[in-house]
Amino acid sequence: MDRLKDAIVPYLTQKEIKELIKKLARQVEADYKGKEIILICPLKGSILFVADFMRELNLPQRVDFVKLAGSKGSSGAPVKIVKDISMNIAGKHVLIIEEIIDEAKTLNFLKSRLMAANPASLKIVTLLDKPARRVVNLKPDFIGKTIEDRFVVGYGLDEGEIGRNYPDIYYLKH
Ligand code: IMP
Ligand code: MG
Repeated sequence: MDRLKDAIVPYLTQKEIKELIKKLARQVEADYKGKEIILICPLKGSILFVADFMRELNLPQRVDFVKLAGSKGSSGAPVKIVKDISMNIAGKHVLIIEEIIDEAKTLNFLKSRLMAANPASLKIVTLLDKPARRVVNLKPDFIGKTIEDRFVVGYGLDEGEIGRNYPDIYYLKH
């Protein structure tokens, strides 16, 4: 690996991630029963998750991407859209595909932005949920796994852009 290799501890294996994705796909299929959905992938952390989730999900689907620049912690900088969606989602069933929900400030902003475009429905899938860090009251509709307040890398998640390509998920040693 690279500069993170001595600083990380195994957390979820590829096999465990795959099981979580299967569970989520079955829940979403049962909820939407053959309806077409639009998957919205917020860049960049969700790229591996959306790639695997869309292949596992047996529903008619389209995918689109959005990039937000968020404020972390107390910086107070407003969230803004760096790259907007390119599809018309009015009247469509929309599913935001997040790899992790932490403070939920950026996700809350994205939710309001998408609601303004009048989708038929809007729900949120997250592979990992870290509720201990929440500053905005937001509950995802489908959760792969609830995790404790630890910083994780791998499977799309990075630390200073390192670690996104790791097939497994690790947590950083304190
Ligand atoms: P928030 O929910 O608005 O705080 O922002 C969530 C975003 O922060 C996620 O989509 C990730 O890109 C990033 N993030 C949150 N927690 C972690 C973590 O433990 N490791 C890596 N990135 C994280
Ligand atoms: Mg994300």
